[in-house]
Amino acid sequence: MNLEDYIILHSDKEPEYLAKVNRDTHIRLINPRMCSGHLQGRVLSMFCHMIQPKRILEIGTFTGYSALCMAEALTDEGIIHTIEIDDELEEFIRQNFEGSEYNDKIKLHIGDALSVIELLDETFDLVFIDADKREYQAYYEAVLPKLRAGGFILADNTLWDGKVLKPVHDNDKQTIEIMKFNDFITSDSRVEKVMLPLRDGLTIIRKND
Ligand SMILES: C[S@@+](CC[C@H](N)C(=O)[O-])C[C@H]1O[C@@H](n2cnc3c(N)ncnc32)[C@H](O)[C@@H]1O
Repeated sequence: MNLEDYIILHSDKEPEYLAKVNRDTHIRLINPRMCSGHLQGRVLSMFCHMIQPKRILEIGTFTGYSALCMAEALTDEGIIHTIEIDDELEEFIRQNFEGSEYNDKIKLHIGDALSVIELLDETFDLVFIDADKREYQAYYEAVLPKLRAGGFILADNTLWDGKVLKPVHDNDKQTIEIMKFNDFITSDSRVEKVMLPLRDGLTIIRKND
């Protein structure tokens, strides 16, 4: 048994409908590793129970797994907005939401995140950034004014498979932009921040009061 198996064994089980989303994602899509999966899903759910957000924004829906995990902790009036650019995923995402008890709490937007964010008239308690790695800083600047003081941003994949530690090719824009984002956040005095070595790296950012 490896450490990750041990951690999973000593954490909550994955709810059955989420296990189905995870399985179906692996069967139907070519890049299933993008799905948050069991451990990160339980962490997202736990963070949401701790923060008790009324308004969540997710940037990068993929098959809906992480949106469903975060929706678990929403209050009666709570809503999660989730944005996905790939319209070929829409039907699959909607099926996954409909197969859960949270369908009414999730608003799916199909489109480019930066354009959709501009149109959202909300103040968010929590934002999960998990879309195009080359746009992380742009997402961050677009959402920070819409985040309440004391609100949180979670940025996924900030270790980018360990590539942040290695020499980078000039044409590897994703790694370059993730590294720039990490350096920028480190010295941004508007926020507190801590990077967790969870899965592919998850940075927790809190907007100052
Ligand atoms: C890593 S996956 C998201 C995984 C999902 N959050 C989860 O944990 O299950 C990233 C998703 O972002 C989407 N995406 C990429 N660029 C985008 C953009 N500009 N606007 C909205 N979504 C985008 C991709 O199509 C992909 O489905």
